[in-house]
Amino acid sequence: MLDSLMMRAGAMFLIVGMVWGIEMGIRQEFSLAPAHAHWNLIGGVLLFVFGLYYRMVPAARESALAKWQASLHFVGAILFPVGVAIVIKKGTGLIVLPIIGSLVVVLAVTLFAVIVFRTSRA
Ligand code: HEM
Repeated sequence: MLDSLMMRAGAMFLIVGMVWGIEMGIRQEFSLAPAHAHWNLIGGVLLFVFGLYYRMVPAARESALAKWQASLHFVGAILFPVGVAIVIKKGTGLIVLPIIGSLVVVLAVTLFAVIVFRTSRA
């Protein structure tokens, strides 16, 4: 369940991120490239990789920690790049958004590291 949810979410992030990239190319306006990059990498790539690990290792996805990890990562994967985009366009008034977003992502990836250390021994 958690595994397919994360892989599906990752694939959706990638479609949105690629359309965003095409839009930047058409308009020849690349100021939001860092937000596009983090949307694709943290949202698209990482969510998909986490989903694959949860598919490969059932014990990893069955813990309550995995639900926290997935929820936090999902929130951070949106808040961080959207916050970066807002700061690029509007200035540093809302710098708190990417700061909180990045900390949420770090927390989620730390939880993932804990899950991997607990479950990856062959
Ligand atoms: C249809 C697919 C995509 C298109 C059309 C696209 C388009 C672009 C464009 C126009 C830029 C700005 C280039 C510049 O500033 O000169 C860019 C930057 C970037 N993109 Fe994409 N992109 C796509 C998919 C992806 C994916 C899947 C990833 C990562 C998984 C990615 C990661 C990046 C990175 C790391 C940068 C550099 C950001 C920076 O310089 O701040 N892109 N992309």
